[in-house]
Amino acid sequence: MTIHSLRGFRDILPPDSGVFYAIESAAREVFKLYGYREIRIPTLEARELFVKSTGDTTDIVQKEMYAFTDQGGREIAARPEGTPGVVRAYIENNLSQNGGNGKYFYMGGMFRAERPQAGRYREFEQIGAECIGAHGAFADAESISMLMEMLKKAGLSGCMAEINSLGCATCRAAYRAGLLGFLKTNPAALCEVCRTRMEKNPLRALDCKLDGPRLALEAPAIKLCPSCQLHFSRVQELLSALNAPFKVNKSLVRGLDYYTRTIFEVKTGASGGSQDALAGGGRYDELVKSMGGPDAPAVGWAMGVDRVALLLKGLIPESDAAQVFVVCAGSGSPAVVPIEKSGEEPYWEGRLGKIQQDGGNTPEASSRAFALLGELRAAGIRTDFSDFNLSLKSQLRSADKSGAYLALILGDEEIKNSVYALKFLKEKKDQRNVPAAEIIPAIKAALPVK
Ligand code: HAM
Repeated sequence: MTIHSLRGFRDILPPDSGVFYAIESAAREVFKLYGYREIRIPTLEARELFVKSTGDTTDIVQKEMYAFTDQGGREIAARPEGTPGVVRAYIENNLSQNGGNGKYFYMGGMFRAERPQAGRYREFEQIGAECIGAHGAFADAESISMLMEMLKKAGLSGCMAEINSLGCATCRAAYRAGLLGFLKTNPAALCEVCRTRMEKNPLRALDCKLDGPRLALEAPAIKLCPSCQLHFSRVQELLSALNAPFKVNKSLVRGLDYYTRTIFEVKTGASGGSQDALAGGGRYDELVKSMGGPDAPAVGWAMGVDRVALLLKGLIPESDAAQVFVVCAGSGSPAVVPIEKSGEEPYWEGRLGKIQQDGGNTPEASSRAFALLGELRAAGIRTDFSDFNLSLKSQLRSADKSGAYLALILGDEEIKNSVYALKFLKEKKDQRNVPAAEIIPAIKAALPVK
């Protein structure tokens, strides 16, 4: 009986894992340009952290948290999102004392017991950014444009940020009554969960996975106070100044409780519903204080790496496959024993099965090939091989499967003449001889730029 992975949990295998790596690398480069530094927060936190920050009326906390009681009787949850942990760390480590804005990024697995489907998993990876301590619209615009820059850098074109404002506590108090009135006019249009939570938090009905999209279109829009209106207009001006692609979506809501003022989601041209959001975020001016910290307004977002990777699959060059696959045509090896059978070619039988004898080769060739692996790697060339004891045909088959761009072939003859054969495995498929002394510059010149 074999044991399978859990529903909604999956293995990310090569070459898909290479796409994740490429997204993470692009993100790290962009974060560095914007002054964001990495924060690594625990996967497990006190359950209460999410109840108090993500919100006890949210789907995430009510239905989706992986929560359990540990051996010491403590209520624990696997993080469903990163923001609460970053805020806890900010407060616990007195990071406000560092002065200026605290700009932090994180990467890692998040856990939500949602109904699994394409692009929606129970463990998924987020890359997130939080800027804590910044009041002005500059921070919102910088945060959103950094996200757009990152998606572009990762290789995704045509992304659009949809933005809206949820206003401050004052705007929302006025809005709450109007929204509740609207929801009460037709309670039959609400799911059971929304009917029970609407008094406590009517906004949640608008991001309900069942009726949210329809209700968000029909519900009255929030009326912003002059200060929030000014902030929202300024965010738009600044985004335009940065040429960040955005549009205002008055019916955009978010599924977490802590947002104030600007909220946003990023989608591709093709996508529509909130499930297709590649990233989402917004301002959370009250959260740090409400969690016992200083009065530190903040803005941030998280990107769903699995969703971005799904779109990039096959579109970006593999950045972790070998570039060169070394093949040894002279596979003389003491590890295998030649066997003679009447009427048959001599073959060697070893640990790896039958190996056709290449004839007349010596262990020198495979030792040279083995040393060459080290030389190429020292020159920064991603290099691989299969097993120099195998036949030329089998090694070339592995070279093809590896995704490498070039095969470097050497045998006794090549070593004797100090000339290696360079075989193009991709488009051209031709082969040429290169003097051994020039092999590294020749490989570098032959490889595509990325
Ligand atoms: P969120 O909208 O819940 O926001 O999640 C952000 C992104 O994570 C989504 O846009 C989506 O791409 C991805 N995501 C969410 N759930 C799943 C899932 N089940 N499977 C795959 N991908 C998923 C937050 O988490 C906030 N912490 C963002 C934030 C940071 N706001 C302020 N700072």
